[in-house]
Amino acid sequence: MDQGDPSPLRHFVVAKRTINAVFDLLLEYVKEGSEFVEATWRSPDLEQVAVEEQCLEVQSCAKKLAVIREVLARRHMKVSFFGRTSNGKSTVINAMLRDRVLPSGIGHTTNCFLRVEGTDGDEAYLTIEGSEDRKSIKTVNQLAHALHMEDMLDSGCLVKVFWPKSKCALLRDDLVLMDSPGTDVTSEVDTWIDNFCLDADVFVLVGNAESTLMNTEKLFFHKVSERISKPNIFILHNRWDASVSEPEYIDEVRKQHTDRCVNFLSEELRVVSPEEAPGRIFFVSAKEVLSSRMHRAQGMPETGGALAEGFNERLSEFQRFERTFEEFISQSAVKTKFEQHTVRASQIIEAVKAVMDSINITSAERKIYSLEEREEQRDRLEFVRGQLNRLTENIKEGIKALTEEVAAKVARAIAEQISCLPSLVDEFSTDFNPTPNTLTAYKAKLIVHVEDRMNSSLGYRCSKGIIGSVQSSQTNMIESIRPLLPPVVQEQLHIHLPSRKFDLNYDLSLAALCTDFQGNIEFKFSLGWTALVSRFIGPSGAKQALTGMEQRLGLQTASSSSPLSLQTERENNPGNELVFSMATGLVSLTSRASMTVLVIGGVVWRSVGWRLIALSVSLYGLLYLYEKLTWTNASRERVLKQQFVEHATQRLKAIVPMTSKGCSQQVYQELTETFARLCQRVDVSEVELEGQIRHLSSRIQRLEKVQQRSKALRNRATDLESKLDAFSVQYLQGHGGR
Ligand code: GTP
Ligand code: MG
Repeated sequence: MDQGDPSPLRHFVVAKRTINAVFDLLLEYVKEGSEFVEATWRSPDLEQVAVEEQCLEVQSCAKKLAVIREVLARRHMKVSFFGRTSNGKSTVINAMLRDRVLPSGIGHTTNCFLRVEGTDGDEAYLTIEGSEDRKSIKTVNQLAHALHMEDMLDSGCLVKVFWPKSKCALLRDDLVLMDSPGTDVTSEVDTWIDNFCLDADVFVLVGNAESTLMNTEKLFFHKVSERISKPNIFILHNRWDASVSEPEYIDEVRKQHTDRCVNFLSEELRVVSPEEAPGRIFFVSAKEVLSSRMHRAQGMPETGGALAEGFNERLSEFQRFERTFEEFISQSAVKTKFEQHTVRASQIIEAVKAVMDSINITSAERKIYSLEEREEQRDRLEFVRGQLNRLTENIKEGIKALTEEVAAKVARAIAEQISCLPSLVDEFSTDFNPTPNTLTAYKAKLIVHVEDRMNSSLGYRCSKGIIGSVQSSQTNMIESIRPLLPPVVQEQLHIHLPSRKFDLNYDLSLAALCTDFQGNIEFKFSLGWTALVSRFIGPSGAKQALTGMEQRLGLQTASSSSPLSLQTERENNPGNELVFSMATGLVSLTSRASMTVLVIGGVVWRSVGWRLIALSVSLYGLLYLYEKLTWTNASRERVLKQQFVEHATQRLKAIVPMTSKGCSQQVYQELTETFARLCQRVDVSEVELEGQIRHLSSRIQRLEKVQQRSKALRNRATDLESKLDAFSVQYLQGHGGR
């Protein structure tokens, strides 16, 4: 082999590097994808976007890939040598390795399977199956010795020989060579095949040019081809240097061997076509090649002496074998070692891609759904807000109208009650006694009676109707607010609104109004001075006039306000001026001079005569007597009641506006309170809606991220797929074995 030429084995090495790089990317990708799927699956607000099965599937993909990646890293090309004892299997391997690595010799030399592979170190060593011990070997004799020391080694045992890669180019390129004991010395062909042949890329049958293929060799390969479909087999006719001794038959012998082998490969084993078969058959001398190569390595002439006849042809045939074998094994190994895994990787990518696709679709669907839901919630919020504003206006107007109506109604009712006061007072009866103590108790009872009656009849006349209006107004409010609340709250609305019974309180406080009511049940003669004055100028005028009179008569106190009041009264009541001057004049007359009285008396005396005067005086006296006699308790009570009616009427009239306002205020309070409580519910549901909208927004964002990420991961899967495709186009398609 030319040193300058790159070995065909590099094809495998480069392919291995390429596929391993793709698998590295793939593994990293699937791990990332697995983390993404798991995070999505575990995310609480993305329920069902990714499911557990998807998570497990991607995880198992990652595990499978990791295993394949490991296997790929250890992948190598393997060639196994079989043939009868002493045909030169070990010598062929040594020739290929260009060194005496394996022991060879006359008789049954190789007593177990010897697997030669490269080691990065400088020291050669071997390990025996079932043990980790490294036995150092410096020379081939040491190796032979070491193997013979292991007496118990049987032919089915495997010894690994690690030979420094630095010493051998073949081993650098990931080639493993397997030497075997002679096929004729074993009865365990099936075990051999199971243990050492199934992963071989190429089988080399080392025959002996001096004899034809034996049945043991044929049987072995029959069994191999039963287990492995179309094994790649090369046939070397070794010891071809012996042909030199009978040069006249050389072509005939070669043809004979070739025909038989072609027949064996194409007809018996059917592993190649008859046309391809001759390309797998070589006539070589391993011993010559080995010694010439070793000599050359030591800087000595290649043959180490006289060149045997035909050496160069045999050498070039061996080189041709090597080249063909290398091209073949690298192409074939790339296929057998990587094709299956490439297909597997494609399936894994496909599975991960499908998961990403599914997550992408689901997240997109969820996003659309969430967007719609958010739109609905926003519409609802807007509706609730607008509707509440409109309702607030209406309801406030309604409350205003109702309170005004209530105020008017109550005012009317109280006025009616005031007009009924005389009969209310009249129907009151209890013991009456004009002593001050019992009189006070009587008045208190009278007030209670009147207030009770007024309250109950106000209640009867107003409360029922007003309470009814208030309740129906409340019901209206509830019904108009109800659609603005979430369905759950709608059902429970009655729970949120305490069904406190509203009652109107009129609060007349008659007792307070009448605390200053005294009543005057002193006897008063109807034609007495005071009564007469009162009759003409009204009770208050009379009081003032009489007070003025008392002052003139010297009964006065030092008060200076009275004449002023008198003056005021006179100005207010110009019609009574005459009576005033008469009253006051009369008094001043009596006080100034009795002469005047006498003059008048004399005048009257003269004009009417004493009889008439006497009659008048006695009539006056009789009337006085009569009135004094009929001034009983009943009359006193009547007078008191009458005085009370007057007093109460006056006071009650004064408080009508305030009381009716108070009632309307109560209604206003009740209704605004109900409305406020309802508004509060609406506020709560608005806040809830806002919260839901916020939640949906963040969910939409998360879904968008998941959607983008799953798409990116899906695209990366496509990239990796095309990398795998490129690999299979470059290495697996169209370069099939010859
Ligand atoms: P086992 O290990 O016993 O199965 O035998 P093997 O097939 O490994 O044969 P090995 O390489 O040990 O060679 C057996 C003998 O044949 C050795 O003495 C070699 O020197 C000799 N021999 C190998 N190849 C050739 C060759 O091409 N020409 C000649 N003349 N002798 C050879
Ligand atoms: Mg051997």
